[in-house]
Amino acid sequence: IPVAAVCDPKALLGTTAVVFDVLRATSTIVTALAAGYRRVYPVAQASAAVALARRHGFVLSGERGGEKIEGFPHGNSPLEFAGGPGTGSSVLVITTSNGTGAIRRAASASPVLIGSLLNARAVARAALEQGQDISLVCAGTGGLFSLEDILGAGFVLLEILQQLNPGGGEGKSPEGPAMDDLAITACGLARLYHNDPLAGLYAGQHGQRLLKLGREEDLRWCAGLNRFDIAPVFTGEYITLVPDN
Ligand code: MLT
Repeated sequence: IPVAAVCDPKALLGTTAVVFDVLRATSTIVTALAAGYRRVYPVAQASAAVALARRHGFVLSGERGGEKIEGFPHGNSPLEFAGGPGTGSSVLVITTSNGTGAIRRAASASPVLIGSLLNARAVARAALEQGQDISLVCAGTGGLFSLEDILGAGFVLLEILQQLNPGGGEGKSPEGPAMDDLAITACGLARLYHNDPLAGLYAGQHGQRLLKLGREEDLRWCAGLNRFDIAPVFTGEYITLVPDN
């Protein structure tokens, strides 16, 4: 099974995609679904997110530049959703600077899975089960490479290698995946931070920006490797654990 870490949506056709915006959109989405939200709508434009949430009474969240959008009830901190929906709507609408657009742009792949450190093992298993090429889509920040997304892709790759070849000798067995150079780089990065994923989240520019904004607890949460055993799927409209729900 060839595995490529890609940023180009045109390369996704005919592959299983796993999308990463580790800080913080995909970590927030994974957290919300693990906590009991039934659906999450990723929306690129803030105005469209407001309209969708108002029309149906859904929960609204939005971030720009790392901060909650003014007038929105929620921002993009996973901790805001870790307690589940409570008595309110169990459907969340989220708009963020990079992550939600990246998820929508990945829709030429099928399926599109939502990845993070929080669910690396589960998403690796779900991607392998598809039995086709795997594209690891790194959202980045403002069109640029983001260390934490490559790190997330790397942790999923290490899980893929482990699940393909539980006995070890990763990458060298005849059944090991063919990886492109960015995927190989991602594996190297994940090995570097394997014992301390939080240090990896601190190392990148966006991690540093979030620290300056006082979001250290978010970084700690997002570094929780394999906290959840779930593999959310983007249907082209919304993200869910159970397509058709
Ligand atoms: C994004 O979509 O750019 C991020 O999730 C930004 C953030 O809230 O940290």
